This record gives sequence, structure tokens and C-alpha cells, in this order.
Amino acid sequence: MNDDSRLSAVASRSAAPRTLGSLRAATEKAGFGSLTSRLDELREWLAGDLQAIESELDALVRGGSGDLAERAAAHLLGQRGKRIRPVCALLGARFAGAGGDLRARDLAVASELVHAATLLHDDVIDNGDERRGAAAARVLFGNSASILAGDYLLIEALGRVQRTGEPQVLTDLLATISKMVAAEALQLERRGTLEPSREVYLRIVDGKTASLFQWALSAGARLGQLTEPQHAALATAGMALGRAFQLIDDALDLEGESAVIGKDLFADLEQGKLTWPTLIAAERDAGLLGELQTIARDGLPNHALLMNLLERIRATGGVEAARQFALDEAQRAEVALTLLPEGLARSTFHAVLSAAVNRRA
Ligand code: IPE
Ligand code: IPE
Ligand code: MG
Ligand code: MG
Repeated sequence: MNDDSRLSAVASRSAAPRTLGSLRAATEKAGFGSLTSRLDELREWLAGDLQAIESELDALVRGGSGDLAERAAAHLLGQRGKRIRPVCALLGARFAGAGGDLRARDLAVASELVHAATLLHDDVIDNGDERRGAAAARVLFGNSASILAGDYLLIEALGRVQRTGEPQVLTDLLATISKMVAAEALQLERRGTLEPSREVYLRIVDGKTASLFQWALSAGARLGQLTEPQHAALATAGMALGRAFQLIDDALDLEGESAVIGKDLFADLEQGKLTWPTLIAAERDAGLLGELQTIARDGLPNHALLMNLLERIRATGGVEAARQFALDEAQRAEVALTLLPEGLARSTFHAVLSAAVNRRA
């Protein structure tokens, strides 16, 4: 029995029931039966690691001194998330033949904690009220507590990476967090102008979202052996997956169902945030830019006007363009991965890519 199947065998079938749960549910709702069952296989393959990651996150929720920052962080960590970044870290390790290295779990947990920290901060920046289908931490505990909770989780993440004893991985994470901060700052600076710049959009998305996907894959791989071109290919695939993931997030802001995505609809519109669908819409219908800027200044219009505006955005094909761009990025990731050996890690990554672009949540 190899490491992978032994890990699966020791873990129960119901191991880590929350992990990848909403990504799986998202593909199920979208009617992707075979992809849903592929994700079930994936969960089973990674079950031992996924269970350990959930236990570690649960311990963080229950443990600690219970101060305000920890309680606010525990509120978010206690909600169901897709756990796609930890899966990337685990896959990175397996691509590099380090599936049995338990330090991959620390890296996986760290990727989720950095992500959770950015959500706690992001909801303050974006005035987000709903997160993972529940009230955002900032609503229950206040903006200040949400910021402290994010800081607390960042420290927890960095400590876990440090204890792996892999200095390059820690250096890479510091660079990644730095890129995430710079991208959020750039987005904030551009908020409301809705200037349709593709270059600015990609800088923001690569920094705020794709960089963490890339780090997770690359960090896991540093636990094992890959050639330099293979490592670079994995990093490219991580960036492409991250872009695809954010492009679908952009589309869901306009076309998702609030109950399914677990956050408010039209938040990007209301915040005057540059997203790919609205960028393309503004390029194709010049009159839309002024209307989008008005919303960013005055808030969402009444229901009828909002529906009318959404119809105009849809008529430009902006949302389809975002979905197509996500598919193109997924294809770019697939091409990059041809440098890596075929096997379970590659086919699992393929399933994660498909789920990311076909999700409804
Ligand atoms: C939300 O990420 C932030 C984006 C990068 C779009 P996820 O959609 O992975 O959030 P959770 O972890 O499932 O809540
Ligand atoms: C995603 O930005 C990136 C981070 C959370 C850092 P969004 O603002 O699009 O994320 P959601 O939509 O609030 O999850
Ligand atoms: Mg947000
Ligand atoms: Mg969003």
C-alpha cells in the first residue's frame, strides 16, 4: 500500500466533511455530476491530510485565550469555506514527491489562515456584511476586532511556516503577503473611478488572489524535488488558477445567488470595484462607465433601475467574457502542467481547475 492509499485508509470516509464541501456543492448544483464525484475521490485521496487540517483549524477555534481578536477569528474559521488553497499546498507537495511529509499540513493550514486573515481585513475594506453564509465577523465584533483578528491569524500562519524550517518558503510567503497588501491598496486607490484598464485589473487580481494560490502550490513543492522548469510550471499554474478563481468570483457578484455564494450580491458594483465583467461592459458600452461611477458614489439604485443596469451589462457580454477568460486561464494552467508527471496529483489539479471555473459558489 503506498502512502496515499494508506492515508486514505486510516481516515474514515466522512473525514473532513467540510473540506471542499462548498466547492463540491457548487459543482453539484451546476449539474456537473462526474466532476462532483471526481471531487469526492479527491477528498478521499487527501482525506488524512484534510482531516488533520480541519482538526488544526478546530483547535485554533477552541483554543487560545479567547480574547476579542481570537473570538472574531474563531467566528470566521468556524464557518464552512472551500479550502481550495490548502488543497493546492497538499498537491504541491505531492507533485514533488513529498506527499508523506507532514510539514505539508502546516503549509496548508498556513495558506488557509492567510486567506482567512485577508477575508477579515477585506470585509472591513469592502464593508462586507455577509461571509460564508453568516454575518461577517466585523458585523458581530466590530471593524477593529476584525482587523486584529486578521493580524492574529497572519501571525499564526507565519509561525507555522517558520516551524517547517524551510527559510525559502517563509521568504516567499512574506513576499506574497506584501503583494496582497499592495494589490488591495491599489484597488482601494482606484475604487470608484472604474477606469477600465485591463493592466490595472490584472495587477490587482494577480496580487490580491492569484499570488496566494501560487505560494500554496510552490511552497508544498519546495518540500520535495522538482526541476527548476517544473517548479516554474507549477507556479504558472497557480497564478492561472488564482486568476480563473477571481474571474468567476467577479461573475458571481453579478450573476450568483446570494444564498449559494454566501455573501452579498452586487458588492463589487456598490463598492465601485473594477471587475472583469464591468470592465469589458464599460469598454463595449461607453455610457455605462458614468452609471457605474454614479453607483459607486451614491449606492445601488432601486430594484428596477438595478435590473435595468444588469441587463445592459449582460447585453455587452461582459459576464461571458469573464467566464471565457477564466476558461482560458484554466487552459494555460493545464498547458503548464504538462511539464509535470502524469498521475493523481495532476488529475486532481485538473478536477480543482474544472471546479473553480464551473462553480456556482
Ligand atoms: C474568496 O475566496 C475571496 C476570493 C479570492 C474571491 P473563497 O471563495 O475561496 O472563500 P472561502 O474560503 O470559500 O470562503
Ligand atoms: C478577493 O477580493 C481577495 C481577498 C479577499 C484578499 P474580493 O473582495 O473580490 O473578495 P470577496 O468577494 O469579498 O470574497
Ligand atoms: Mg470583498
Ligand atoms: Mg468578490
